[in-house]
Amino acid sequence: MNALDREAILAGLSSAITGSMGGLTVLQRVDSTNSFLLDLPPGEQHAHVVVADEQTGGRGRRQRQWHSPPGGNVYFSLGWRFKGGAPAALPLVAAVGLCRALDDIGLAGHGIKWPNDVLLGERKLAGILVEAQSAGSGPLCAVIGIGLNVDMPQQGADLIDRPWTDLKEHLGDGLPERNRIVAALADQLMSAMAGLMAGGLQPFHADWSRRDLLAGRQVAVEGAGQVVAGRANGIDAEGALRIDRPDGRPLIINSGEVSVHYG
Ligand code: BTN
Repeated sequence: MNALDREAILAGLSSAITGSMGGLTVLQRVDSTNSFLLDLPPGEQHAHVVVADEQTGGRGRRQRQWHSPPGGNVYFSLGWRFKGGAPAALPLVAAVGLCRALDDIGLAGHGIKWPNDVLLGERKLAGILVEAQSAGSGPLCAVIGIGLNVDMPQQGADLIDRPWTDLKEHLGDGLPERNRIVAALADQLMSAMAGLMAGGLQPFHADWSRRDLLAGRQVAVEGAGQVVAGRANGIDAEGALRIDRPDGRPLIINSGEVSVHYG
């Protein structure tokens, strides 16, 4: 698998993005690209992309570990400062940006499992962890971390205990080199964050809904020690998940772990 290379990534960026990028850091090995960005001086975080070949302490959502072996995947973080704090819809808009980047590299058939898992054929292809930190007395800087399975090394395949897939399985010989994938991610994520700042979730709502893998499916949502079952019915204007319960009463879910009932 080709090495991550700063110059090659820069060469693949669209000119509009190159001009507004706050920084690009390419690392061989790091504990977590999200932590690296959060530890940067506040003035260096905004629009800064950090990418690594390996993470020794990769973090996933819900306090899970994100196994991050070297030599095949992409571990990517982008810092973004929002006046007045990170919008609640940020994780959903990040998922749209990620899916658009995957479209750009020629992938088809991927979709989003609320709020922001990217799956292909019911198996996880990429995950997103959004973290935020107060930048002193200034506005909040959010870090959008993406783990994308590109060509999963055996070491990772042996460790992951949930159904997963990688780009290699679907693109075969058409798999672009990792630097091109990172450039596509940087382009689409930065453009999505700029769009979110300008117009909120609304300009992304239709695209998110088009990619919604849960719509119409029977699901169970676990959160705050409770499990609620019903039929997923898309997202509301704020990005919360709408569930129709068996008795017809609607329910709005702001956070939780969703599982799908098959069959
Ligand atoms: C999930 O649980 O689905 C989210 C996984 C997010 C993993 C990425 S890899 C780059 C960034 N750095 C981290 O430590 N986590 C995120």
